[in-house]
Amino acid sequence: MTLDKNDNITTPWEWEKYWKSGRIASCFDDNQEGYLGAIARHWTDFFSASTAGDNVLDLGCGNGAISVLALKAQPDLNAYGVDMAAIDPAKTAPGANDILAKVHFSGAVDMRALPFDDGYFQAISSQFAIEYAPLDAVITEAARVLAPKGRFCAVLHAKNGYAWTAQQDELADIAFLENTVRLIPITRSAITHVCKAERAGAALDAQTDANARAAAKALNEALMETTRRTLSHTHPFMLKSVVDTIAKTYHARSHYDAPPLLAKIDEVEDEIRAHKLRSAALVDAALDEDGIAALCKEMQQNGLEPQQPKRLNDDSLGGFLGWAVQATKGA
Ligand SMILES: C[S@@+](CC[C@H](N)C(=O)[O-])C[C@H]1O[C@@H](n2cnc3c(N)ncnc32)[C@H](O)[C@@H]1O
Repeated sequence: MTLDKNDNITTPWEWEKYWKSGRIASCFDDNQEGYLGAIARHWTDFFSASTAGDNVLDLGCGNGAISVLALKAQPDLNAYGVDMAAIDPAKTAPGANDILAKVHFSGAVDMRALPFDDGYFQAISSQFAIEYAPLDAVITEAARVLAPKGRFCAVLHAKNGYAWTAQQDELADIAFLENTVRLIPITRSAITHVCKAERAGAALDAQTDANARAAAKALNEALMETTRRTLSHTHPFMLKSVVDTIAKTYHARSHYDAPPLLAKIDEVEDEIRAHKLRSAALVDAALDEDGIAALCKEMQQNGLEPQQPKRLNDDSLGGFLGWAVQATKGA
């Protein structure tokens, strides 16, 4: 799937729901504790070099995971975060609410057109975000709002990195759900036919009964085939969550009629679609060494002096996590 960087992930709906669900980080966070390991250390080091009273901005901030690390490293920063999605981290993200409440978050803001004065920030951070937008426009705008001698640092998805590989696996899983087991239409059919048969009582006719049995059997087989795939899988989280939700919804027939159960299946389908868009966008946006070199060149053209790009590695989180590129604006 190829996406046009001019309007791909910047159509915010696939992120809006994600942040409203309360997740604090976009990846490397299966336990939902926020960023740990090499990523947490990286941002702690970056913000430890800030001075109390500095204005700092996080671009593509999501639910504010990087701002939390910033304020833990240096509690007296004036922290700002912007995201294209409609966000409200202090309300939606669980935990760290006291820290998140101190951050000035703005949703529906495109990082290519920031609502801040020239030179307002002493430091700008961004993680897994600028690569989704055209880099020339993002760097021009970041350089505009950065103060002389200000520091800019971006962590970016890497081609062949852990997240890139994991998302390709998830895209293959989604293709399996959609094209091989056809789990969503099979679930809809099972709910419709089985509810009808179960509620027919004494009026149950042979055809309704046969339809229900066939639809239930097909769903059972599709769920078993999907579960088998999760067992031999390195990144089974998305598939497991789909199987769990579908099984729970199907078994809720004693409490609910078909329409609310079918509405829940619509939600699962939407979530799979959003997942597919986010995964495809990540695979598309991740940068190789040439992409990182082009980013450094873009920085230089905008008066930012980049340091040697770093590879962020952490075996406990899956290996190569991404690139870190830091630059300083000229005086
Ligand atoms: C992968 S998430 C990263 C979120 C967070 N920085 C993190 O590390 O978990 C990418 C975020 O970038 C935001 N985004 C993408 N394009 C953007 C743009 N042009 N302006 C502002 N935010 C953007 C998305 O809405 C999304 O919340």
